[in-house]
Amino acid sequence: MSALTLLLKRRSVVARMMIEPGPSDDELATILKAGMRVPDHGRLYPWRFVIIRGAARQSLGEVLAAATRAADPEADERRLEMERGRIARAPVVVCVVSRVVAGKIAEWEQILSSGAACQNMLVAAHSCGYVAQWLTEWCAYDPDVKRALGLEPDDRIAGFVYLGSAAMPPAERERPVYENVVRALPTALHLSVEDRRRLEMPGPG
Ligand SMILES: Cc1cc2nc3c(=O)[nH]c(=O)nc-3n(C[C@H](O)[C@H](O)[C@H](O)COP(=O)(O)O)c2cc1C
Repeated sequence: MSALTLLLKRRSVVARMMIEPGPSDDELATILKAGMRVPDHGRLYPWRFVIIRGAARQSLGEVLAAATRAADPEADERRLEMERGRIARAPVVVCVVSRVVAGKIAEWEQILSSGAACQNMLVAAHSCGYVAQWLTEWCAYDPDVKRALGLEPDDRIAGFVYLGSAAMPPAERERPVYENVVRALPTALHLSVEDRRRLEMPGPG
């Protein structure tokens, strides 16, 4: 499939619909390298990747269940069981971490770069014949989960990228109407009289 077709056809497959196999170690390394090959103003590498596979998924699931119980002592066993299994929905999960570097480059740009890393990984996974879903869910914002992942206090979780094979092909999802989200800037710019005055620009026409 061409890169363009892939970009125009890509769909997420929800994590709970994923089955084995997930990417092999070599394939995962390729997917991660695609994740690192993103625009990165200042060459700061403002992202890190934590691979969660095999029994590590259950270990992290235990942390999710414990954090759920700590937040809500009334949480029933069904809910706790769901949390234990949350990460293990997919054969492989990668936690993409946004690690902002202090300095001249805007924080926003560094965060955008980690979003690009997630997206590149989705596309690379599809290109390797797997399916993927980018999720945050509550666990991306939980301090206990962050500690269990060995993250720095200021790290943010850009997402958990779930990777696996599809139990069934996903149905198409409604996409935005092109004209509703795209417009071309006209030659005659709409600037208010006040803005023109402040900018010392002549009036239109
Ligand atoms: C930063 C980010 C976080 C997301 N977190 C969730 C989430 O927690 N739960 C969810 O159902 N979808 C989440 N999504 C949406 C899915 O990744 C995905 O876009 C959605 O399932 C639609 O599929 P599509 O990629 O085929 O459009 C998130 C997307 C982004 C960009």
